[in-house]
Amino acid sequence: MSNARKDNICLYIMLLLFGLLMILSACTTESKPIDPTQQQRMSELRKRFKNELGEKYDLSIPAATAAQLKRGAELYPQVCASCHGGRGDGLGKISEGLAGNPTSFTDPEQAAFFSERARLGIIRKGVPGTPMMGWQNVLTEEDIQALYCYIRSLIGQK
Ligand code: HEC
Repeated sequence: MSNARKDNICLYIMLLLFGLLMILSACTTESKPIDPTQQQRMSELRKRFKNELGEKYDLSIPAATAAQLKRGAELYPQVCASCHGGRGDGLGKISEGLAGNPTSFTDPEQAAFFSERARLGIIRKGVPGTPMMGWQNVLTEEDIQALYCYIRSLIGQK
């Protein structure tokens, strides 16, 4: 085989690999990594909730009713999606450049960091010092629970 031909094949293979890589990276919607500051803040917050809730910290939240999921799906795009993303992957329109990455609700690992009760508490009270405000003065308790059920339903979805 001539050298020129070998070069051509090499180039072809490299282009193919590059193409594959591009396709792969487009398919995996990776949530943004959590930096050490945010990690520490989350750990402290988790400790606070554990202290506050005691045995209740790990109590699960009952399965959602159809009405709750419907209400959650209706509210989510209006109040949460700008940061947490329309699909809950944490990549909302204004997520870029916020202090602290909006959590991905689809990533099972991120979703498991806080207990169910703690996540509900965070929706009520927010995460101090971050753009995640508390919603208890804005939304009714029923709506907050509906939103929790809705984001829980997103775990593991792509
Ligand atoms: C202005 C942007 C913004 C909006 C709007 C927003 N969030 Fe957040 N949210 C964040 C950020 C940023 C964090 C991560 C805070 C940190 O750094 O610890 C977060 C964290 C959370 C967490 C805790 C992390 C976890 O593991 O679950 C929950 C729950 C949550 N948000 C739910 C909601 C819900 C439900 C709504 C709609 C009612 C909402 N958020 C609206 C920015 C936002």
